[in-house]
Amino acid sequence: MRKIIIAIDGFSACGKSTTAKEVARLLGYRYIDSGAMYRAVTLYFLDHLVSFSNPKEVDKALNEIKLSFIVNSKGATEIFLNAINVEKAIRKMRISESVSQVSTIKVVRKAMVALQRKMGKDKGIVMDGRDIGTVVFPEAELKLFLSADIMVRAFRRQKELLEKEDLVELDTIIENLQSRDQIDSTRKESPLVRATGAIEIDTTNITVDEQVDEVVRLALSQMLIKKWKG
Ligand code: DC
Repeated sequence: MRKIIIAIDGFSACGKSTTAKEVARLLGYRYIDSGAMYRAVTLYFLDHLVSFSNPKEVDKALNEIKLSFIVNSKGATEIFLNAINVEKAIRKMRISESVSQVSTIKVVRKAMVALQRKMGKDKGIVMDGRDIGTVVFPEAELKLFLSADIMVRAFRRQKELLEKEDLVELDTIIENLQSRDQIDSTRKESPLVRATGAIEIDTTNITVDEQVDEVVRLALSQMLIKKWKG
């Protein structure tokens, strides 16, 4: 079957990565978490005291950053920043608190989008983020927009953080999600909007298995359409 690109966008903690990972595994596709790339850049900026508003410092830092994704022995994709596995470090609250700000910087977005397009050039990829269906792969065969109730999203994020031994109060998480929603959807550069042709899935009342089944079903029908079209 011909390979396609699956672009999944939506607000934070709507189940994008959980769904994308499992769909990629079932289809034998590559999974790329584009949010992890913005998080890794944020980690570098914070650790190297890069001033977000100083274009020279930002440019210099971007030239020093090398990002790569490696599949571990359990089949999970992990992000490496300058050859160091930062998969755990980028999920901490201190990164979540600055990442939306870093991802409004035009040159940061330009560098990330170029990398993302390179990774998708052979198709067979599931990528999740905020601008995947609108900017990175507007030609993707399958575009999805995930949404969910804020409380459900906050509980999911709290559980995820707890699994990483980061105990964060629910109110703090809700505030962080709301502030990121606001920045992500109103920023000048590539704001989070539903892409033309994207199918919306509300994940509030459905299980992960149901989400995954629905996306795989949609992907298979797109692959069939592609096959018939030749
Ligand atoms: O998916 P996430 O919550 O890990 O993403 C972290 C931040 O990165 C999010 O608040 C906005 C930004 N982001 C972006 O601007 N564009 C993307 N394609 C992915 C993430």
